[in-house]
Amino acid sequence: MKLLIANGRVVDPADKIDSVNDILIENGKVIRIAPRIRTSGKKSNVKIINVRGKVVMPGAIDMHAHLREPGYEEKETIYSGTRAAASGGITSVCCMPNTRPVIDNQTTVEFVMLKAQKEGVVNVFPVGAITKNLAGEELTEIAELKNAGVVAISDDGNAVANSRIMYLALKYAKMFSLPVISHCEDTNLSKGGVMNAGYTATLLGLRGIPPEAEEIMVIRDIILAHSAGAHLHVTHVSCCESVRFIREAKRKNIKVTCDTAPHYFTLTEEAVKTYVYNTNTKVNPPLRTIEDVKAIKEGLKDGTIDCIASDHAPHTQEEKARDYESAPFGIIGLETLLPLIFTELVHTKVLSLQDAIAKVTINPATVLNLSNKGRLSVGADADITVVDLEREFIYERVVSKSKNTPFLGRKFRGYVEMTIVGGKIVFRDGKLLL
Ligand code: DOR
Ligand code: ZN
Repeated sequence: MKLLIANGRVVDPADKIDSVNDILIENGKVIRIAPRIRTSGKKSNVKIINVRGKVVMPGAIDMHAHLREPGYEEKETIYSGTRAAASGGITSVCCMPNTRPVIDNQTTVEFVMLKAQKEGVVNVFPVGAITKNLAGEELTEIAELKNAGVVAISDDGNAVANSRIMYLALKYAKMFSLPVISHCEDTNLSKGGVMNAGYTATLLGLRGIPPEAEEIMVIRDIILAHSAGAHLHVTHVSCCESVRFIREAKRKNIKVTCDTAPHYFTLTEEAVKTYVYNTNTKVNPPLRTIEDVKAIKEGLKDGTIDCIASDHAPHTQEEKARDYESAPFGIIGLETLLPLIFTELVHTKVLSLQDAIAKVTINPATVLNLSNKGRLSVGADADITVVDLEREFIYERVVSKSKNTPFLGRKFRGYVEMTIVGGKIVFRDGKLLL
């Protein structure tokens, strides 16, 4: 059975396409893209879906999410997390290794991949740990992780404090063509902090995390990546100076890429005040200032920031019901990644539609060496997202197992109508189909 996605506005930044086209899919692959594909033979052989007026884009790749399985199934599972992803138009998710046990060996990688195959509805690409048990002391067997199927290594949630270990990680990762995803945080500077350091934190009587905690590690890792000749990917960039340092490093042809998350171009530290200690604004790195938000948008605009990822970090209602100091850090984001990009970047003209889509498709695919993903060329995997760019909706129903988002009740413009993974429709008209 073939599938024909007909009459949509196909936007594929990788192939510089932005025009009305039909897309023909067979056996999970794109087999043709052209205006008006005639389907010969028996009609019943081709399922035709008319998406006139809608944007048809490569399925979004979320390169940074926490699916929490194994070990924290009360927060999220591969089952629930991949359904949240599908509802948000995300067809591939990279899951971070801060699980229990940590994804730091072949067995845990295989467990995640098997679970994803059995219970998941989107593609799952595990990220392996840099150090065993994320302890920052002993490197994992990077060759073993690579052979098992990881697409990158990261100690996300923790920074690798020891510069020598980080250097060696970069050296080894290079041998296996893996990017090292760095959570940049100097924990001596951030220790005890729960929100951005500054006036608002003082006003609220909360301990601050200064931007320097991030910037210092961004600089250190750029230096190490440069001498190791390795690919560094800085994740969840939140502040102005980090953007500047990365821009500078790129100018010097150092192999560094980076991503930010929607909350860093949407919210400021003021949100902590507005929602009166709403712990759903507690995230690491913290929400920063309006100057930082401007710098992040600037970085997105000029290409310094390559990708946008959700940093989906689910936590239970009980955990988030604690006081601001002791609640865990994290915001869920699989379902709001695309709506926030359309609402806050595309409709506001910060980014063109092509550039915005690139940041969640071909750019992360390139960073992670996913050659058949992030584009709609003939032969590519038929992972496709259909969006009504103009349709407004209020975010009310959360698919993820956890509900920790500051965006609940918010109005978005840009609605995911359909999600196709490997040629199969997994989400359509507000309903999951698997
Ligand atoms: O807010 C965060 N939550 N930041 C991180 O780096 C880790 C994450 C988590 O795992 O909850
Ligand atoms: Zn992190």
